[in-house]
Amino acid sequence: MFTIKVCFMLKKRVLLTGGSRGIGKAIYDELKEEFEVIAPARNELNLTSMESIHNYFQAEPKFDILINNAGINIIKEIENILDEDIEKINMINLVAPLKLIQYCVKNMKQNRFGKIVNISSIWGVKSKEKRTLYSATKFGLIGQTKALCQELGEYNILINSICPGFTATNLTMESLSKEELGDIQKQIPLGRLASSKEIAKSVKFLVSDENSYITGQTLVIDGGFTA
Ligand SMILES: NC(=O)c1ccc[n+]([C@@H]2O[C@H](COP(=O)([O-])OP(=O)(O)OC[C@H]3O[C@@H](n4cnc5c(N)ncnc54)[C@H](OP(=O)(O)O)[C@@H]3O)[C@@H](O)[C@H]2O)c1
Repeated sequence: MFTIKVCFMLKKRVLLTGGSRGIGKAIYDELKEEFEVIAPARNELNLTSMESIHNYFQAEPKFDILINNAGINIIKEIENILDEDIEKINMINLVAPLKLIQYCVKNMKQNRFGKIVNISSIWGVKSKEKRTLYSATKFGLIGQTKALCQELGEYNILINSICPGFTATNLTMESLSKEELGDIQKQIPLGRLASSKEIAKSVKFLVSDENSYITGQTLVIDGGFTA
């Protein structure tokens, strides 16, 4: 007599920030078949508000994977930086990712499984003029990643940073003139911008079962720009 066992593999649950457009939308599309991806809109999870973050996790506490993708850029000379710029960019790019990790690790530790990806930037490994605020947060995100890798390794929680280079999102293409785009392309060994899908594929690899030993790392995806 044969007994047939049917095993239902539950999809891993992913919390993705900034999934509405750009790189985040590409990550959503890349993961949606294999994972249960929850990508809250800003009115459900507003990263400028500690209260919104707290309330969100009262209702949705358990995730296996966290992708801190949402981010903003404020490009200003040092004299023009306002107090509210400092507060806003630090909150969205640095403090909110830390709070989300804090809320997610409880369940991950219990399951002795977790994957976290922080989306930093090439301006998190090098910098240029007027990027003081952006670089401060993106270098900081890599710092968080490295410290947490030490702390979370014993729970089988893997955490990495991805640093996209110039990526052809709608916003990037709209904010650059043809001339500026040409200049940038000349500085990239591969001679073109990245597509959002190229960034998303690496995120998928890092959060998938294919990655069982990469943690604490900074993966720069920039067509060779920073080489
Ligand atoms: N594009 C590039 O060339 C590039 C290069 C290097 C690194 N990056 C990094 O990659 C990530 C994604 O960039 P992107 O260009 O794809 O971004 P984007 O197109 O500007 O989209 C930003 C996303 O973040 C969300 N967001 C912004 N403020 C928020 C808030 N207060 N609360 C909740 N969500 C908020 C937006 O939601 P709404 O739709 O509600 O506004 C949107 O989904 C960012 O961390 C960025 O720094 C981008």
